[in-house]
Amino acid sequence: MTRSILILNGPNLNLLGQREPEIYGRTTLADIEAMCRAEAARLGVEADCRQSNSEGELVTWIQEAPQRFAGVILNAGAYSHTSIALLDAGRALNIPLIEVHLSNIYQRESFRHHSYISLAAKGIICGFGSRGYLMALGALAAMLDDAQ
Ligand code: DQA
Repeated sequence: MTRSILILNGPNLNLLGQREPEIYGRTTLADIEAMCRAEAARLGVEADCRQSNSEGELVTWIQEAPQRFAGVILNAGAYSHTSIALLDAGRALNIPLIEVHLSNIYQRESFRHHSYISLAAKGIICGFGSRGYLMALGALAAMLDDAQ
């Protein structure tokens, strides 16, 4: 069975490091992706990291994920709060999806308190900054180990 994990970041997350650093920190997306690849290697899994500002591209990547991946980590950015299309793609998945947010969305504006993705997620990690992606990788790797 594959031990590859797809890590998807949605709109504006390409701007991490410069975008609202008081909320999202100074770590860039390239830094986070390098941290994820290192953590994946430590856990004996592989990480394929992608970012898109396009809702449709994210939907397509989620649809195709089961062909090559054992799980998906998704920070859909603002689409989390708006996209029924991403929810439907997540619901169609037969592999686990973990939702990640850098910030604690429940401490922020009320429109961020609801996430459509959560309805399709195995679990949700938010508020731990870039460490959240590593936590999600750890959770998925443990699930794969349990399944063996
Ligand atoms: C975010 C939270 C969203 O509300 C926001 O639109 C983002 C980033 C986070 O990682 O904290 O773009 O998903």
